[in-house]
Parts: sequence; C-alpha cells; structure tokens
Amino acid sequence: MSASKSDVMITALENGPYLVAGPARVADPDGEQWDTGGRATFALCRCGASQNKPFCDGTHSQIGFAAAERAVSEAD
Ligand code: FES
Repeated sequence: MSASKSDVMITALENGPYLVAGPARVADPDGEQWDTGGRATFALCRCGASQNKPFCDGTHSQIGFAAAERAVSEAD
C-alpha cells in the first residue's frame, strides 16, 4: 500500500524506528509541537534509547533493538 500526497504513511521499519511520510506534525502532551524542519519524511524512535526523542538518532542499531511486530490480518 502506498500513500497519496495528502496521506500520512507510518511504516514500522525492521528493528528500527517508525518512518513517518506525509504532512504530519508531532506534539507533546501539552500540544507543543516539535520542529520537523519541514521534512516530508522523518523517523520516530521506537526503541526508547534515542538521545533526541521523539526522533530516532540511530541508537537502535547500537543496542540491538529487536521488534517482532508484524501486521497480521484477521484471516491469519
Ligand atoms: S528507534 Fe532509532 S533510536 Fe530508537
């Protein structure tokens, strides 16, 4: 499945971050928004070890982060 120009697509990368592609904004619990630098694509940390949360800084590859999640249809 691919995203249209107006869609946001979030992809869980293999043992890595969530890759966000599309016109998305990221806010903290108070509604304050992080600056994404106007990038159309950015990565959100999924391992919890980034020193630049909520963004991925590549630390996941140094700590051996292993994510087993896969989207499974109800028929499976
Ligand atoms: S997923 Fe990359 S640093 Fe956490």
